[in-house]
Amino acid sequence: MLRNDQLDKWDRENFFHPSTHLAQFARGEAPNRVIRTGSGCHIEDRDGTRLLDAFAGLYCVNVGYGRQEIAEAIAEQARELAYYHAYVGHGTEASITLAKMILDRSPEGMSKVYFGQSGSDANETNIKLVWYYNNILGRPEKKKIISRWRGYHGSGLMTGSLTGLELFHKKFDLPLAQVIHTDAPYYYRRPADDMSEAQFTAYLAAELEALIEREGPDTIAAFIGEPVLGTGGIVPPPEGYWEAIQKVLDKHDILLIADEVVTGFGRLGTMFGSDHYGIKPDLITIAKGLTSAYAPLSGSIVGDKMWKVLEQGTDENGPIGHGWTYSAHPIGAAAGIANLELIDKLDMVTSAGEVGAHFNAAMRDALGDHPNVGDIRGEGMLCAVEFAKDRDTRTLFDAADKVGPQVAAALLGHGVIGRAMPQGDILGFAPPFCLTREEAEEVAAKTAKAVAEVLG
Ligand SMILES: Cc1ncc(COP(=O)(O)O)c(C=O)c1O
Repeated sequence: MLRNDQLDKWDRENFFHPSTHLAQFARGEAPNRVIRTGSGCHIEDRDGTRLLDAFAGLYCVNVGYGRQEIAEAIAEQARELAYYHAYVGHGTEASITLAKMILDRSPEGMSKVYFGQSGSDANETNIKLVWYYNNILGRPEKKKIISRWRGYHGSGLMTGSLTGLELFHKKFDLPLAQVIHTDAPYYYRRPADDMSEAQFTAYLAAELEALIEREGPDTIAAFIGEPVLGTGGIVPPPEGYWEAIQKVLDKHDILLIADEVVTGFGRLGTMFGSDHYGIKPDLITIAKGLTSAYAPLSGSIVGDKMWKVLEQGTDENGPIGHGWTYSAHPIGAAAGIANLELIDKLDMVTSAGEVGAHFNAAMRDALGDHPNVGDIRGEGMLCAVEFAKDRDTRTLFDAADKVGPQVAAALLGHGVIGRAMPQGDILGFAPPFCLTREEAEEVAAKTAKAVAEVLG
């Protein structure tokens, strides 16, 4: 296909891309890529280059690209009723149906779903609901939120504060004062070599408890965490982690927000990460996999305990003063229904678990012995390869060497998209659930090739 260079010029002159080196991009020093189409696990750019997308966009196109059932559902909804709001009791057949479908799939003890558009706004909603809850209960001092270093919860003012990654704070005057961070449950980066996973878990629980005591339990409202750390490095928790953390939270009457934006709707081989790890959340954040990104839609699933207090709050204060124009957008809701139906019909939660295990095993076979591969970890359709200068001493490379980005670039040269995760030399994978075993082996083999090219 002939290259449309006008488009390249327009892109660099007009388009402010997120998470991009703005100056290099504007000067034409950083590459752009214009994606034209997609099918299954593959996307194709405007030059006709076909790539196996082993990160499902931003771990969101869970059912894969080009699903006509979802496209049809969106088109039909747009023709019938493209929009109506959800304020003061309004709804659409699609939004009401989807709320019911979500609750039917949710862990025990969840009561209602509030719809937004993105993971970030859903977490903003969650924090507002937590503050409202404690105000209604007459505890105006209990407002601080504990998040984890390396957690990712969004890019807004509050959610960017919750996010525990340096790049999202630097020069933005974040984090806000109400947010405090505790240690990441990152066993590979444990403080002492001889610590077992169980000892590391006990250490993390003790650190959390000490933080709560220092700040004052009466000032801590909630703890937010992803069942598996995502953008912070794709890190499954150490043995017994969630049980130990929940014990500490329960003791101090601290609410738990499970951010399931990545793990919700099947990525770990279970419908929710909370089911996977025995988490009993008060709020669950959902987005990405809710519609497989065919349309923007997110949600805050509110548990019974909080819901009762929210009802009490409106009896005392009138309607809740929180809403987005696009809450429960019918096109998003139609996409969500078609997406969840497809996941059920193709039993994709099961296949995410099974093929995900095969994928992780293939990656360990391909790279487990490489002297610069420090860790290979994953759960379900999540996998990460972490590079080290010396695997025996867990000595990491200098960030300036950009080992992770170099391997990701080499892998792209072999037609596979992996993601160089921020803050570390970590290559992440989160393929669509339709990945076949053969494709899983292809990604692993090509990753080994890319690693050999960069690190020998
Ligand atoms: C766990 C988690 N929470 C929240 C978000 C923010 O979602 P969004 O980018 O849709 O605002 C993300 C995005 O990657 C995420 O991974």
